[in-house]
Amino acid sequence: MDSPNAAPPAPAASPGSVEQLITDEHFAIRAHLTDLRELATVFPELDQGAARGRAGAVLDFLNNELLPHAAAEEASIYPAIDRLVGAGATQTMTLDHRAIASIIAQLGVAANGDVEPGARFEAQRLLFVLEALLTTHLWKEDTAYVPLLARLDSHAYTALHAEVAGHTAHREHTH
Ligand SMILES: [Fe+2]
Ligand SMILES: [Fe+2]
Repeated sequence: MDSPNAAPPAPAASPGSVEQLITDEHFAIRAHLTDLRELATVFPELDQGAARGRAGAVLDFLNNELLPHAAAEEASIYPAIDRLVGAGATQTMTLDHRAIASIIAQLGVAANGDVEPGARFEAQRLLFVLEALLTTHLWKEDTAYVPLLARLDSHAYTALHAEVAGHTAHREHTH
């Protein structure tokens, strides 16, 4: 049985396909989840400067790469899935995005300022929560949504490809 922590299945998709673009983006995000877990483990013991610096790097990824990825999905892939499965099919995943954004905002508060001992443990908790939520969310997208995209008609598939490739190119340009 597949599990959220397992490596994603080898994509049957051809290089450059929508399925491959999404899988590649998720692969890049998974690499950052290792940083989240490692930072959570040591966060209470770091000195003030290291705590601020490392939390800042993680928050930069979350705010400037992860949240734009989620917004792009809500504008492109999720509507395509809704048309295939039925209106509202992706609502629970959009709610995941809201929950993720809320935890990132809480982490921003807990990991900034004086980063006193009490706040350190709250930031540590939020980092672990985020890692678990993001791991499960990516697993659901890869397992439940990516295989459905082959059902799109060629016009819809081509349109989605242009949207996803555009977002990906934009992010590569700005980072
Ligand atoms: Fe998502
Ligand atoms: Fe995603």
